[in-house]
Amino acid sequence: MNLIMKMLAVPATVLALWAANAQATSDDEIAKRLEPVGKVCVQGQPCAGGGAGVAAAGGESAGGGMPADEIIAKHCTACHSIGLLDAPKINDTAAWKARADKEGGLDGLLAKAITGLNAMPPKGTCGECSDAELKSAIQKMSGL
Ligand code: HEC
Repeated sequence: MNLIMKMLAVPATVLALWAANAQATSDDEIAKRLEPVGKVCVQGQPCAGGGAGVAAAGGESAGGGMPADEIIAKHCTACHSIGLLDAPKINDTAAWKARADKEGGLDGLLAKAITGLNAMPPKGTCGECSDAELKSAIQKMSGL
């Protein structure tokens, strides 16, 4: 009886974590969709006023692609926010730097992100992401 309870309890905890994360992701997405269109920055122009953090993030999108924040919220937070299966955590720059040093810098990390690495799925599940978009997401998550 006890053993059965334990066997049931473990997957339930994991599921709860996933559910909490999925919720956070969709809340983020909803918040993004609710943002006024005027906040989007045009490349080559300084982001005008208002919510510096959000504006700066929008300005980082490479080549007019999906903004890094949106890619991260949609595809990367599920694992990288809580460090699921040893994924380097968002903003844990030391952990990312150790990996970057091993792989030969940001481009090395990008190469691994494209092919996938152990539990890290190819392109971090963002099949439609360009290399530049993935790189901007990695830069943003790592702070490198
Ligand atoms: C299903 C969970 C999962 C998702 C989703 C995910 N990752 Fe990861 N990621 C991991 C794990 C686990 C590792 C650590 C792999 C290892 O070292 O064994 C990792 C490692 C990485 C690394 C380091 C690679 C290296 O060479 O050390 C990069 C870069 C990375 N992820 C980028 C991303 C990006 C960008 C996204 C979103 C587009 C993403 N990941 C989405 C699980 C995930």
